[in-house]
Amino acid sequence: MSDSHEPQASESGPAPLHGLLAEYTTTGDILRASKKVRDAGFSRWDTFTPFPVHGIDRAMGIRMTILPWIVLGAGLTGLGTAILLQWWTNAYDYPWLISGKPLWSIPANVPIMFELTVLIGGVTAFIAMLVLNNLPMPAHPLDQVKRFARATDDRFFLLIEAADPKFDADATRALLDSTRPHAIESILEDRKTSDKLPTGIIYALVIATVASAVPFALAAKARYTKSRSTRIHLIQDMDAQPKYKAQRENPVFADGRSTRVPDPETVAVGELHEDDHFYRGTQNGAFARTFPPTFRVDETAMLRGEQRFGIYCTPCHGFGAEGNGMVAKRAEELAQGTWTPPSNLTDQRIRDMPVGEIFNTITHGIRNMPAYGPQIPTSDRWAIILYLRALERSHAAKIADLAPAERTGL
Ligand code: HEC
Repeated sequence: MSDSHEPQASESGPAPLHGLLAEYTTTGDILRASKKVRDAGFSRWDTFTPFPVHGIDRAMGIRMTILPWIVLGAGLTGLGTAILLQWWTNAYDYPWLISGKPLWSIPANVPIMFELTVLIGGVTAFIAMLVLNNLPMPAHPLDQVKRFARATDDRFFLLIEAADPKFDADATRALLDSTRPHAIESILEDRKTSDKLPTGIIYALVIATVASAVPFALAAKARYTKSRSTRIHLIQDMDAQPKYKAQRENPVFADGRSTRVPDPETVAVGELHEDDHFYRGTQNGAFARTFPPTFRVDETAMLRGEQRFGIYCTPCHGFGAEGNGMVAKRAEELAQGTWTPPSNLTDQRIRDMPVGEIFNTITHGIRNMPAYGPQIPTSDRWAIILYLRALERSHAAKIADLAPAERTGL
């Protein structure tokens, strides 16, 4: 069955023939027709199907596209650029030794090499695909053919262009007829629709291209000029959050302070510290003579005390607690006569001192000794006193204090 369509006249004479369009209803038909047209040696023709048809490229004799080679070339260009760029900047133009690492080594450069390979390859694949397909194509004679709309639905089309060197109006029509199409239609050149890109799009592209240079121009200007005004700060992030700083006035409160005084009599959770013995070293208002029951006197506490004493007390009081630590020695050298030496903690006076009083001394300091309460946790202060008691004892040890086995070794 065939259905012909005579060329129509337009204002400037009849429009020239663009080609012959054959319509098919099944994939089998379009495959058979394609093979015939291919074997007849046509080169400027194409098929249009609503979905990919298996084997159509083979039936049409389409050879592999050169796109992969173009992309390979672009990828290698990106790879080469990445290697060159990193070698030039890091190893040649501005060598900067970091942690003794080599100025130039492949592993460090892999991320950029990968990035540029993929970036240039990908962008090229996109652009080359458009160019190879003659896209964008704002107008095509088939756009005006009503029946062609079904190419996106349920019909298969084959178009042989009149520009094909083998094209002959009658012979080609006869060839298409022999493929038993559903219909054949002569397609005329479209003289009404412009095949140029709409001027709006062209202007938009030009403006976008020019505008994309503006940030670079601004950055360049900022680098090479001086200005008295503060920098433009586009992204404020948290740099300029509205808030009251410590010593600023705050009109919200009657006293105008932005830093609020804690409510009197408030205690943070777990900070009540009711146990006077443990937290203040006192019992019934007097310095305690015993370790608090909540503090466990054992070997762990003793070792902890030795370690903490070594950290916090030895600089001044010395390892033997005799008041001859490094800080004290040095201070004596520098400030001759004016330096108050740290007490000898093995003195009888300190040995007779209640543990609660020593606790108080560590916590609040005394005369020229600063307070260590803020630095040393409460139980560590008790551990230090425990160790100090052991140190004092060792200073006045009698032979009777030793185990019998140890006495013979002396
Ligand atoms: C920065 C040096 C320094 C450090 C560290 C230091 N002290 Fe003192 N300590 C002194 C000085 C100085 C005195 C004597 C103060 C005075 O008589 O004016 C002193 C005195 C003392 C006294 C005697 C207080 C009295 O009633 O006479 C005790 C007990 C004491 N220190 C314990 C300690 C303990 C325990 C530590 C470790 C937590 C420690 N000190 C860490 C400098 C230090």
